[in-house]
Amino acid sequence: MRNIMRVYLLQSPGNIAKAVLEKIKETLSKVENPVLGLATGSTPLRLYGEMIEDYKNGGFSYKNVTTINLDEYVGLDGSHPQSYRHFMNENLFNHIDINMENTHIPNGVAKDLKAECARYSRLVTANPPDIQILGIGSNGHIAFNEPGSPFNSTTRVVDLTESTINDNSRFFNSIDEVPKQAISMGIADIMKAKSIILIATGTSKAEALKRMLTAHYAEDSPASVLQTHRCVSIYADESAAHLLPKN
Ligand code: F6R
Repeated sequence: MRNIMRVYLLQSPGNIAKAVLEKIKETLSKVENPVLGLATGSTPLRLYGEMIEDYKNGGFSYKNVTTINLDEYVGLDGSHPQSYRHFMNENLFNHIDINMENTHIPNGVAKDLKAECARYSRLVTANPPDIQILGIGSNGHIAFNEPGSPFNSTTRVVDLTESTINDNSRFFNSIDEVPKQAISMGIADIMKAKSIILIATGTSKAEALKRMLTAHYAEDSPASVLQTHRCVSIYADESAAHLLPKN
């Protein structure tokens, strides 16, 4: 099958959020029971803001939508202010008409983490997202698949690298509070999505974006796996794209 990778260079994160929202609405409205794969972190926040505003202005309804998030910190339950469940509820789910039962995030406090990972992987296999939204880490990670993650990995508990712990410490009172592990959808699970939209904004993502697009497909650059997906769109702003070849 032919791989299609489109790169859209837009002026600002605001323009990207609007463009991605249109793509989501166009794709999901063609499907009866759509599945939307979501990410946390700063990157999708503007998009979630646009989704909320659109919904409040009588736009797209999420009544029939199922969402599947990429990851959750190990040890934080959904009421913890830094848990990804809390993040998603606060920044999106509480403001749209989605049925909370149809919103899926790994359970970071499951008694049996291995069983939780296997359950989650089965969930993704049974409900491959029509669109998966991704951010990218400054070290090229997608979800919490750090450099070196096997491309055939499914959902599992991962150790976070020092660079990711540092990046994420801005959300915690101190670096010691940042969890050292997460449950992360594996690379093979992410690749099950029917289409993928990766958003990269800001200069801190420039090197990772360049590597993802121009370096060899290799496990030391997790995002490079997307070179082999059948339908990927990358939305980058000028700062994130400034290291890309001009032609
Ligand atoms: C979040 C996730 C991560 C982030 C990445 C970028 O669910 O899976 O891979 O997308 O760490 O984070 P931000 O957007 O905060 O720069």
